[in-house]
Amino acid sequence: MSSTTERSLVLIKPDGLRRGLAGEILARFERKGLVIEALEMRVMDAALADQHYAEHVAKAFYPPLKEFMTSGPLLALVLSGDDVIEVIRAMIGSTDGRKAAAGTIRGDFSLSNRENLVHASDSPASAERELALWFPKI
Ligand code: CMP
Repeated sequence: MSSTTERSLVLIKPDGLRRGLAGEILARFERKGLVIEALEMRVMDAALADQHYAEHVAKAFYPPLKEFMTSGPLLALVLSGDDVIEVIRAMIGSTDGRKAAAGTIRGDFSLSNRENLVHASDSPASAERELALWFPKI
């Protein structure tokens, strides 16, 4: 089977830090064998939120999402590995923590559609765009 080494932009969202789950989430990525290429604690400001979530800014759920994402520190990570975008999406589970499969990060720790602990790039094109926003020097 062929594989491709990729990079993904991953955010451990403010709820992950507030709830003391950053170590648990990072440990899962490490145990899977993904490589942490960069890790920074950041606070997302309004302008970065609008850029990062450009496809969602007109949606009804965006104002409370923006409020939440800018509400405190988060961890921004660059992770790499074989087919890492698909691998991470499988590890975090579907958007709504109430519906995400048990064994996934959201399925195990989130009961919310908004406060779902982790963001990860959903395609190579998204990864390229998001990495340029968050880690322009990498
Ligand atoms: P994320 O993977 O960061 O991408 C967009 C985010 O918007 C998503 O995780 C959730 O935090 C949030 N989101 C998506 N859909 C909804 C929704 N229907 N209601 C509230 N928040 C949502």
